[in-house]
Amino acid sequence: MKKISKICCIGAGYVGGPTMSVIANQCPHIQVTVVDINEARIAQWNTEDLNQLPIYEPGLKEIIAESRGKNLFFSTEVDQAIAEAQMIFISVNTPTKTYGKGKGQAADLKFVELCARNIAKVAKEDKIVVEKSTLPVRTAEAIKNILDNTGNGVRFEILSNPEFLAEGTAIEDLLHADRVLIGGDDTPTGKAAKNALSEVYENWLPKERILQTNVWSSELSKLVANAFLAQRVSSINSISALCEKTDANIAEISRAIGFDSRIGPKFLNASVGFGGSCFQKDILNLVYIARSFGLPEVADYWEQVILMNDYQKRRFADLMIQTLYNTVSGKKIVLYGWAFKKDTNDTRESAAIYIADALMDEQAQLVVYDPKVPKERIYADLDYLGTRDPQKNRDLLTVATDPLEATRDAHAVAVVTEWDEFKGYDWKKIYEHMLKPAFVFDGRRLLDTHTMRDIGFNYYKIGEA
Ligand code: NAD
Ligand code: UDX
Repeated sequence: MKKISKICCIGAGYVGGPTMSVIANQCPHIQVTVVDINEARIAQWNTEDLNQLPIYEPGLKEIIAESRGKNLFFSTEVDQAIAEAQMIFISVNTPTKTYGKGKGQAADLKFVELCARNIAKVAKEDKIVVEKSTLPVRTAEAIKNILDNTGNGVRFEILSNPEFLAEGTAIEDLLHADRVLIGGDDTPTGKAAKNALSEVYENWLPKERILQTNVWSSELSKLVANAFLAQRVSSINSISALCEKTDANIAEISRAIGFDSRIGPKFLNASVGFGGSCFQKDILNLVYIARSFGLPEVADYWEQVILMNDYQKRRFADLMIQTLYNTVSGKKIVLYGWAFKKDTNDTRESAAIYIADALMDEQAQLVVYDPKVPKERIYADLDYLGTRDPQKNRDLLTVATDPLEATRDAHAVAVVTEWDEFKGYDWKKIYEHMLKPAFVFDGRRLLDTHTMRDIGFNYYKIGEA
């Protein structure tokens, strides 16, 4: 197999953008072209002002500044990039289906199929096609079928190389990946393709962290990794509810169990519930696959992780309403945060959306402040839910640019994203601004209980009585 010198990535999103930027940065001898059909997104990736990149990730703009225009390119010329590359990554979105069979659970593979058909149409020489998107087990088979039957007689090797980066730490995760997983056929050409991709990563990662498996294990491992991670969050969140009833403290429990080396300390932070584009989508997909293979017990087991997460979001909104004397109608409530976690501008499946929606159902008057999420995104998230008409969303919710000013005459503040800057705010001043009694609901366990109560707040922290 020839050494890889040209890579194309289809899909310039939260995965394609950072992943390819790091590959280009670490492999100056490889030309990397990231293509997308979304012209506005590509224009943003090519923007002069690096603060206007389409996604916010710590460390990303520095890498783009070094590599863009040298061996890293963003383009809408999809066909040309496919034709020139020896290796093509498919990194397009695979959302939960919103129609037809499997609606609400199965992954929608129409974008992936379109990519496969496009590659088949354009390719004039042998290619390695890499599934970077998260896909249901055995998708590679479908891709291979399309490529083999509609192609121009060229050979395609299909690899699965799922991405494990987490948003907000994407660059760190890519530079110091715990592992890279490469699934492919065990035929001589399959092995050669796996080795070719492995060599790309070996430019900056130790070889022993690059795992090779068969395609199906690789595809399924990705769903299982996300299911296990989300299960930890749902497990600790379920116990946070019990703590609130029993005077036990969830932080002390996380610490106590996390010291057991078999359990480990990570991913045990109780919260308003997990969000993000992956956990819910991938578990629903796992549930769907298990059910379609006639394994209802397996499906029900994993579905419970989602049900517990829905419960946690609802529970937080209900706690706010109950504590505010069972009515929030017309009351000004400030939400600190909208992103699904800190250090990202991504709001997909953010718990904030559902908490806001529940409070707006009770006619609360919301003010939202998030350091990275623009106003249009917040309204788009609410409009997408379709709970009420768009004008009503705008009547009930406004977006603030000054987080302290926003608290004037507010009844309550709720912390729903764990942005570091919230910790440093002048909470005494916020207290002065607010109506009394002043309530703070800390859905991220970000603030110090004693300090907040000493200031005079009625302070509620998830997982503490
Ligand atoms: P995204 O929506 O941010 O980006 C996908 C991009 O693909 C979009 O810009 C879209 O315009 C483009 N696209 C769709 N169809 C196309 C086509 N036919 N040709 C060219 N471009 C096309 O999605 P994302 O968050 O980057 O996720 C991509 C995949 O990676 C998903 O399968 C997801 O599950 C997986 N993943 C995501 C994360 C994450 O943190 N976001 C982590 C690991 C894996
Ligand atoms: C996740 C996986 O971590 C990553 O490996 C995969 O590639 C994509 O999906 P991401 O969704 O970007 O990454 O962020 P992650 O850090 O996993 O957080 C997901 C959600 O869980 C966030 O809403 C976060 O706030 C929440 N969470 C996480 C908790 O509530 N408590 C925790 O202890 C950890």
